[in-house]
Amino acid sequence: MKLSSEVLRSETDIAERLRALGKEITREYAGQEISVLGVLKGAFIFLADLTRQVRLPMDVGFVESVTSRRSDSMTEIVFATALRLSTSFRVEGTHLLLVEDILDTGVTLAYLCEQIQLYQPRSLRVCTLLDKPHRRKVDLQPDHVGFQVPDKHVVGYGLDYEGKYRNLPHLGYVE
Ligand code: IMP
Ligand code: MG
Repeated sequence: MKLSSEVLRSETDIAERLRALGKEITREYAGQEISVLGVLKGAFIFLADLTRQVRLPMDVGFVESVTSRRSDSMTEIVFATALRLSTSFRVEGTHLLLVEDILDTGVTLAYLCEQIQLYQPRSLRVCTLLDKPHRRKVDLQPDHVGFQVPDKHVVGYGLDYEGKYRNLPHLGYVE
């Protein structure tokens, strides 16, 4: 697999979309304080840029541990056990906005949401930078989506292929 020279979304496209997304989220939670939870590692750049477009009081935290390891058949997914939330990040009673890099089959996100509900947030919504809707295996609708993408392995802007390409400033893919 090597990086394609094709750019799926440029830095300018991303910045423009994030301004709109920021307004959407600001409107949705108007007058409220939110807690933004980024899923590491993939969402680290998206979260940094998105939060700066949201005009609301907020706390920011991260969750790790969601390793969805796939077998070759892409059917077996093994998750690490409990969620590791940032220390001093409160979920209970908050309006929680979960920020993901990409929603593919939805298995990872479904698991995450189920785990987060155990901490009893007042509300839980999902914002994903990318969505591959035709790949969905579980019934899950994200509340906010940056872009829909084709069924390719997308890299850049935080997303990796075997640990590489996270620092590409645009969105591309490997083939
Ligand atoms: P799901 O459980 O199939 O929805 O997988 C979601 C997770 O798989 C994401 O959080 C990513 O970490 C990873 N993933 C899925 N598709 C891609 C891709 O195209 N590029 C990089 N990572 C991906
Ligand atoms: Mg991820």
